[in-house]
Amino acid sequence: MGSYSNGFLVGFLVVFSSLIVGSYGGGNFYQDFDLTWGENRAKIFKGGQLLSLSLDRVSGSGFQSKKEYLFGRIDMQLKLVAGNSAGTVTAYYLSSQGPTHDEIDYEFLGNVSGQPYILHTNVFTKGQGNREQQFYLWFDPTRNFHTYSIIWKPQHIIFLVDNTPIRVFKNAESIGVPFPKNQPMRIYSSLWNADDWATRGGLVKTDWSKAPFTAYYRNFNVLDSRASSSFSDAAWQTNELDAPGRRRLRWVQKYFMIYNYCTDLKRFPNGVPPECKPSRFL
Ligand SMILES: *[C@@H]1O[C@H](CO)[C@@H](O)[C@H](O)[C@H]1NC(C)=O
Repeated sequence: MGSYSNGFLVGFLVVFSSLIVGSYGGGNFYQDFDLTWGENRAKIFKGGQLLSLSLDRVSGSGFQSKKEYLFGRIDMQLKLVAGNSAGTVTAYYLSSQGPTHDEIDYEFLGNVSGQPYILHTNVFTKGQGNREQQFYLWFDPTRNFHTYSIIWKPQHIIFLVDNTPIRVFKNAESIGVPFPKNQPMRIYSSLWNADDWATRGGLVKTDWSKAPFTAYYRNFNVLDSRASSSFSDAAWQTNELDAPGRRRLRWVQKYFMIYNYCTDLKRFPNGVPPECKPSRFL
């Protein structure tokens, strides 16, 4: 090929890939996030493509999105604290403000080397949570980046790990359960010490000789429901998981779920919360 056609090809690739990036909404940490806590323990590098949070004896660290979102699909890739991460918690969540805030939570509870992290999830509506579900993961979340997503629609909230649905919180307003739908939320993340409860209920303490502890973030991506065009997408229009999605969800719930508030009769002796009814009644 002559230099003309090479130039053409390169030009084409540049335009084409910027179109792809453009339609994915950018994903530049400088543009989309503020580092809010922990001074230089929170860092953005690689021109905005990578972010890290660290925790040492003095402090943890955190960041938050500049924008607020009201419905959408939010993807982030995380690589969690490796090695002995016992006592550390990496929280990654959406939240609105105030005493009646809504919240959609992922929390990653560290462990001693070789033992499994716990992925803790919760949903707060009108300031009230107590809807914990916990999972082990089917991979080591410290070896590579994995994608943790939240689909937030008026009909439901779906938590996905590498595109596998692990939890669905349906809109159960028809039976009196508030659903997050009026208060816009920001994205937050923080890495902190929680060795009073995180690992085996607080039995295993943080080993500070291993500090600083560091978690990494990349490939942030939002389908913002208010930035329309992507929402003509058929996958977004449908309000049910498809058959493979339901199968994956059952697989995760059967083999990896280790706690579900909906089946905790000791905790709810007078009956589990109404949204725990089988979904066909909702
Ligand atoms: C840590 O490992 C222990 C032993 O395998 C396990 O019981 C526990 O659920 C793991 N995770 C956490 C966060 O405690």
